[in-house]
Amino acid sequence: MKIAIGADHAGYPLKEKIKEFLMKEGHEVIDFGTHSTESTHYPLFAKEVAKAVQEGKADRGILICGTGIGMSITANKFPGIRAALCTNEYMARMSRLHNNANVLCLGERVLGVELALSIVKVWLETPFEGGRHEKRIKLISEIEHEACSKDLP
Ligand code: RB5
Repeated sequence: MKIAIGADHAGYPLKEKIKEFLMKEGHEVIDFGTHSTESTHYPLFAKEVAKAVQEGKADRGILICGTGIGMSITANKFPGIRAALCTNEYMARMSRLHNNANVLCLGERVLGVELALSIVKVWLETPFEGGRHEKRIKLISEIEHEACSKDLP
């Protein structure tokens, strides 16, 4: 799979570990940074990864910040992006089976490395279940369309 990855300073060390794991598993990784622990701003990286997935330049995206919250808030602003903040393997599995999540958000300050890698593995290996969940994903797209065509206050 082609995977876009991004992190802020708080997620940088875990990003490097995940990148190494992904490459070992035979995935192609597009790294949008950041490239050190120097303080930066998570929306900048969420934007690049979300755009890469939205435009089909990557199959999936993975974003890491301190909690994963800022990354998920930002990535979910992009139509077509279903970013899931997961703190365990069950959430990772369900985010694929039921929500067809295309971006995984992780919090480096919340997870240990082993758990984070296990979440990534489950998330990449689990397919979308389809069936009754197709209708719900379609409803999300319709809501996105409706919300994006409204003028902001
Ligand atoms: C950075 O201190 C922290 O706010 C950021 O990594 C993230 O947790 C935001 O949601």
